[in-house]
Amino acid sequence: MSPFLLTRTLPEDATDAALRADVHHGLTGTPKTLPPKWFYDAHGSELFEQITELPEYYPTRAEREILIARSGEIAAATHARTLVELGSGSSEKTRYLLDALTGLHTYVPVDVSESALTQAGQALVAERPGLQVHALIADFTAGLTLPDTPGPRLLAFLGGTIGNLLPAERAAFFAAVRSLLSPGDALLLGTDLVKDEKVLVEAYDDAAGVTAAFNKNVLTVVNRELHADFDPGAFDHVALWDAANEWIEMRLRSRTAQTVKIPALDLAVDFAEGEELRTEVSAKFRKEGVRAELAAAGLDLAHWWTDQEGRFALSLSVAR
Ligand code: AVJ
Repeated sequence: MSPFLLTRTLPEDATDAALRADVHHGLTGTPKTLPPKWFYDAHGSELFEQITELPEYYPTRAEREILIARSGEIAAATHARTLVELGSGSSEKTRYLLDALTGLHTYVPVDVSESALTQAGQALVAERPGLQVHALIADFTAGLTLPDTPGPRLLAFLGGTIGNLLPAERAAFFAAVRSLLSPGDALLLGTDLVKDEKVLVEAYDDAAGVTAAFNKNVLTVVNRELHADFDPGAFDHVALWDAANEWIEMRLRSRTAQTVKIPALDLAVDFAEGEELRTEVSAKFRKEGVRAELAAAGLDLAHWWTDQEGRFALSLSVAR
């Protein structure tokens, strides 16, 4: 068998249909919202890569520190023969796991971006003779079927992206993850932690304005894909800490009263001066909350590792 396989579980036009539905739903509701997954076209993915290198944006560095320190323990605890990675992107941080998992048979990167999967997957099989890479083009929030590969399985969901889901969505997500695993299989989850408000807000409102550009890029995506006429300059970037929900919200605040046309949806959207459009929720976690959410889905917390400064956690939980 070829060491690199690519399976498309999303129809070619699924992305377009999902974007149209999300934009229609999100811009006709109150308050207005757009889901964060639409940030990541080629330009948005490039901006996100820049964010991960900003002095204010600590999660990527903190998670890498934990992976470097703990990959050996993760390998010893799981003995994984199949590693599934949801939202694998460039598979950059995965290398630490792949190096440590000496008995690994197959790596299954899962992403909506075919170009990222092909690039990262081809590079990996070239570097690692004997490793099977079976990439899946799939939306892991929609439902997944995994290839039939040997267990034990380790499913990794890194970066703190779980924080983009609302609590009810997280419960459904953990239940879906559990259904992909057999008893004894494991979930490796990256979660950003609750901390000082100033540190959190600055991580989402950097001095160089990269996060502001990333936030406004979603408007450019809607302009290009749905022929809308958003003026990104007519909106201000907002990042705020919601202390009751313990999450960061990113919003775009309309600088004036304006009407935006979205011809592909036959829609005109009115914004009042100062009206805000929510573009992202990024929840921050505590150990006992993570333990409870996992337990509710049949996943028992077995390890909890943080970086030296206690900003970010990787947890390993085991399917009951
Ligand atoms: C990729 C979802 C983990 O929520 O911190 C970075 C995205 N948004 N800056 C996060 C993001 C603004 C990021 N995740």
